[in-house]
Amino acid sequence: MEWLDDYELELEPMDQTHHEFVEIFNRLASADAASRLERLDEFIAHTEAHFGQENRWMEAIDFPGCHRAEHDRVLAVLREVRSRLAAGDGFFLGRLIEELPTWFGHHASGMDAALAFTLKSVGFDFETETVAGSKGACAASSGAGACACGPTMSEVQAAEG
Ligand SMILES: [Fe+2]
Ligand SMILES: [Fe+2]
Repeated sequence: MEWLDDYELELEPMDQTHHEFVEIFNRLASADAASRLERLDEFIAHTEAHFGQENRWMEAIDFPGCHRAEHDRVLAVLREVRSRLAAGDGFFLGRLIEELPTWFGHHASGMDAALAFTLKSVGFDFETETVAGSKGACAASSGAGACACGPTMSEVQAAEG
């Protein structure tokens, strides 16, 4: 997978994780038969941490849930590919290596870009993983189009109440 300028979201902690994601993916893609299970485990562990980090940030700013669901879907696929590979079937790993770069391009420029934009606009503090003085900053900043998965639960409740 080649790193493209489009992947740069100008949000240091996210960009750093994405650079590592591409690097570890490339190690997996170039692994020989003897080491590919180990490389796949390394890639899955990094992806769990990568998605877990974004999920925590989303939770901290009350960001709508479809991005998290997308992470869960991808991890389910990775675990399925891992169990097939461990059983001696490398076909799905080959498909994964072919298709993941396209998925990542869409995800980085879509969902991750929207999250990065929102984190920047609310002044998210990555040390403490909080927004100073406000919980639910994503709901508070709605209208910017950054929280693109529909209203959050708190917005729905506010509208109903
Ligand atoms: Fe990401
Ligand atoms: Fe993401």
